[in-house]
Amino acid sequence: MTTLDLLSRPRRNRRSANIRAFHRETHLGPQHFIYPLFVHEKAADEPISAMPGCSRLSPEGLMREVEEAWDVGVRALVLFPAIESALKTPTGDESFNDNGLIPRTIKALKDRWPELVVVTDVALDPYSTEGHDGLVSPDGRILNDETIEVLCKQALSQARAGADIISPSDMMDGRVGAIRESLDAEGFIDVSILAYTAKYASAFYGPFRDALDSAPKHGDKKTYQMDPCNVREAMREVALDEEEGADMIMVKPAGPYLDVIRAVREFTVLPVAAYQVSGEYAMLKAACERGWLEEKKVAVESLQAIRRAGADMILTYYAKQAAVWL
Ligand code: PBG
Repeated sequence: MTTLDLLSRPRRNRRSANIRAFHRETHLGPQHFIYPLFVHEKAADEPISAMPGCSRLSPEGLMREVEEAWDVGVRALVLFPAIESALKTPTGDESFNDNGLIPRTIKALKDRWPELVVVTDVALDPYSTEGHDGLVSPDGRILNDETIEVLCKQALSQARAGADIISPSDMMDGRVGAIRESLDAEGFIDVSILAYTAKYASAFYGPFRDALDSAPKHGDKKTYQMDPCNVREAMREVALDEEEGADMIMVKPAGPYLDVIRAVREFTVLPVAAYQVSGEYAMLKAACERGWLEEKKVAVESLQAIRRAGADMILTYYAKQAAVWL
């Protein structure tokens, strides 16, 4: 056996855990996570079938879940409401009820954990009998400017309740600027906007829509969410959200869109978030339940890959579990 005459042996830099650790390029910890949680009015938690480990949480269940997450270092969450069908209307007016489920939940959380970063979603789909993020005209179009008036009211009711970060996920044009103006006009100059800037019309949202019973009754979301084939268009959205005063930018989904995260990262100096969505979580869970993949390892690797692509923060249903694994 002769020794090869190799000047460079990259393996030298990988030869022990301590050597690997000191030149690791990507770091992942609970400080990077935003934990999406589903809440409802009922007294018991209801497991969500395509999202093992996630439930629609009762008020008490939410407190328990947040306490566990807090104890392992998770400091930010985003709330999604499962609204009872009796409260859904074509115009989604429950979305700006100051005494609605979300404002009450925000207050309860901030009372108990003043330091917790509470992010809220702005869009009409959980509140609308139509299951669309915006108002629907009689002929089935999604009305942009009319919707924005409602979204501003929704954002204000969340800010009044104490939300730290308002996160419009609706993809209407001009909503970031309009929400910023409404917040400022009521004195909420310190409430941030995390814009779902590059949100794609993705089939990976299926389990989420089941969880909230919020799938569109007619049509799809392609006239407002982005075409999965596009990346340049995302830069146009970033430029607009920056001009309109967004504090942070989001790419969604995350795993199948790592190239978009990278491009957005290079295009903006704002913090970039990425959303590992329900379908990404469901795929990992399903394969791991069958013993085809090792959950701890693939979950952490999927999150590292999203960070490596350029995300500062990750919205992930794995937040609590991954915080323990790390
Ligand atoms: C809707 C909204 C969706 C998600 C977050 N906010 C679904 C959609 O746009 O249809 C999806 C999140 C997930 O799949 O985990 N405003």
